[in-house]
Amino acid sequence: MLEIFFELHEDLAQQGPGSDEYTRKAFSLTQPLSPKSRILDLGCGPGRQTIELAKLSKGEIHAVDNHKPYIEELRIRTMKARVTEKIKTHVGSMDDLNFAEESFDLIWSEGAIYSIGFEKGLKLWRRFLKPGCYIAVTEVSWLKSDLPEELRNYWNVAYPDIGSIGDNIRRVEQAEFELAATLTLPASTWWDGYYTQILERMEVLNKKYADDETARKVFDEEKREIEMFRRYSDYYSYVFYIAKRPL
Ligand SMILES: C[S@@+](CC[C@H](N)C(=O)[O-])C[C@H]1O[C@@H](n2cnc3c(N)ncnc32)[C@H](O)[C@@H]1O
Repeated sequence: MLEIFFELHEDLAQQGPGSDEYTRKAFSLTQPLSPKSRILDLGCGPGRQTIELAKLSKGEIHAVDNHKPYIEELRIRTMKARVTEKIKTHVGSMDDLNFAEESFDLIWSEGAIYSIGFEKGLKLWRRFLKPGCYIAVTEVSWLKSDLPEELRNYWNVAYPDIGSIGDNIRRVEQAEFELAATLTLPASTWWDGYYTQILERMEVLNKKYADDETARKVFDEEKREIEMFRRYSDYYSYVFYIAKRPL
């Protein structure tokens, strides 16, 4: 099952909603950043945002993901973008990090913290950030409160911890950060570069796996996720939470 999932996702430019434009907008809210900054990008995937961060900053970036093929894709991309020296890659888990405490000037994570839990991740990562520095993390969040039942039922299974922006701001504060800003990703950042690519890839793989029941299940799940977004994108999106570790 996992193999089919990865075949569907391999070589995509990005592995979740997001865009370079929004990475840049969020980055502008984390200034000033020292010229010798050390940035930690957690759940980097194939590194769309890692490369953008390398273009935006002068120091070094440590990119961590537990799926080795994504790290390999990222390494190839760093060469193409000529930023290899700035990016150190690590295959490892974001809940078992071996970096020195207070050694980063910025912690970044797009579309990945949900896999260990938003509040848990914030609490775990805080120690690696220097006091007075920022964390910028995206988390899927409710944008409205009058949720259609079908949508609520879907997310109750997919990610029961999903909360409103207010809930997530409270979680940020529970983890002892001071919120600086939130930034909601528009629906275009889910379609361009992500869902549209998956739908195109599925079209090809549909033929290859026409009689494969496991593949059908994986594809049906993806199609359901995408259909939910097509119908209800006004109700939820990824939101950047940009917050400072107090001095
Ligand atoms: C939705 S993708 C987002 C990837 C990338 N940030 C992007 O926006 O394109 C989530 C990423 O988190 C990684 N991941 C999931 N659980 C992880 C863990 N425990 N430790 C490290 N990486 C993890 C996955 O391999 C995947 O690359």
